[in-house]
Amino acid sequence: MKIKKKQCFKTMKLLKNSFKNQKVFKKTKSSNFLMENKEIKKNEYVHAKKSKIHNTGIFAKKFIQKGTLIIEYIGEKISKKESERRADQVLEDSKKNKEKGAVYIFEINKKYDLDGNVPYNIARFINHSCNPNCESEIINEEIWIKAIKDIKPGEELKYNYGYDVDNFEEHPCRCGSKKCKGYIASEDNWKKLKNLLRKNFKNKKVLIAYYSRTGNTKKVAEYLAENMGFDVDEITTDKRDGIIGYLKRGYESASNKKSRISFNKNPESYDLVIIGTPIWAYNISSPIRTYLVLCKNVNVAAFCTMSGKDHGNAFKEISQNIKSFKGLLNINEKTIKNNTFQHDLLEFFRKIEL
Ligand SMILES: Cc1cc2nc3c(=O)[nH]c(=O)nc-3n(C[C@H](O)[C@H](O)[C@H](O)COP(=O)(O)O)c2cc1C
Repeated sequence: MKIKKKQCFKTMKLLKNSFKNQKVFKKTKSSNFLMENKEIKKNEYVHAKKSKIHNTGIFAKKFIQKGTLIIEYIGEKISKKESERRADQVLEDSKKNKEKGAVYIFEINKKYDLDGNVPYNIARFINHSCNPNCESEIINEEIWIKAIKDIKPGEELKYNYGYDVDNFEEHPCRCGSKKCKGYIASEDNWKKLKNLLRKNFKNKKVLIAYYSRTGNTKKVAEYLAENMGFDVDEITTDKRDGIIGYLKRGYESASNKKSRISFNKNPESYDLVIIGTPIWAYNISSPIRTYLVLCKNVNVAAFCTMSGKDHGNAFKEISQNIKSFKGLLNINEKTIKNNTFQHDLLEFFRKIEL
């Protein structure tokens, strides 16, 4: 089942599409009671608090076993006409204030919708994730949020909002999961999303050539290759670990030195080569400096991973040595470690034109 929520949207069509598998939902005695009394029900399993994913989230108070029906998604039953009026209002409000772009409406049947945007429906705070631990399920005509994995105390509840990908760029995702697709989309739309992301590269050969000493650049390169369908080549060099290796690499980069490198793919046989490099002493890494000698006749784009915010001389040095430079993205290592780099990465590279 698919729920459209917590995002602004352009048309009701989008809303309806996302609910096409929805079955009938009827108000129950308990939800009626809650609605009438406008009370926030104390739930035995969960409570609301600030989330790292997005604003407020819902968290487990105690261990929740896989299969548990955790909380009912309740709200106000409204006519289609009223539903459209509210949806238009959200759209209007979101133009003035992006924080007001949240939609919590379910389609109940051909006549009625359910607006979950009421204070007593704390289930509306459950955030989206590309690696969810919950899903929604209709049981006896009630909408329930159910655990699809064991959930530890303190863990945030998440489910996949199940959006289609017609307007994927309007639904960025930074859910913090390793699997994050960068945009909110149902799992059965992930393949379609990949094709949309690589639209500019149809029939083009793209290679990601990267060097990584401690794994940050490697993680980004492998993610980009997998999610945009590009080839990947790791540039390696003689092993120099520890403090001596650290100092030597800093010295090499700052003093424009080159390294001895190994790689497997010929950059000249690609329409675009995406270079991935760590920043060392405000410069590109020395193995990448050496590799760039092979890219004189190649279109290049690049990403730099770093502990700070400044890529130093990277733009200047890369752009001087190649056929054409298509852009450079800075990636802070914190976002790599907490898995929130994916959206900015895909958004940057999908827009490159050849
Ligand atoms: C020798 C050396 C020099 C570095 N200099 C910088 C720097 O000038 N600016 C910066 O933001 N980060 C700097 N860093 C941090 C790395 O750029 C950052 O940790 C990077 O993500 C490492 O990538 P990797 O894990 O792929 O090797 C330096 C790291 C090393 C080892």
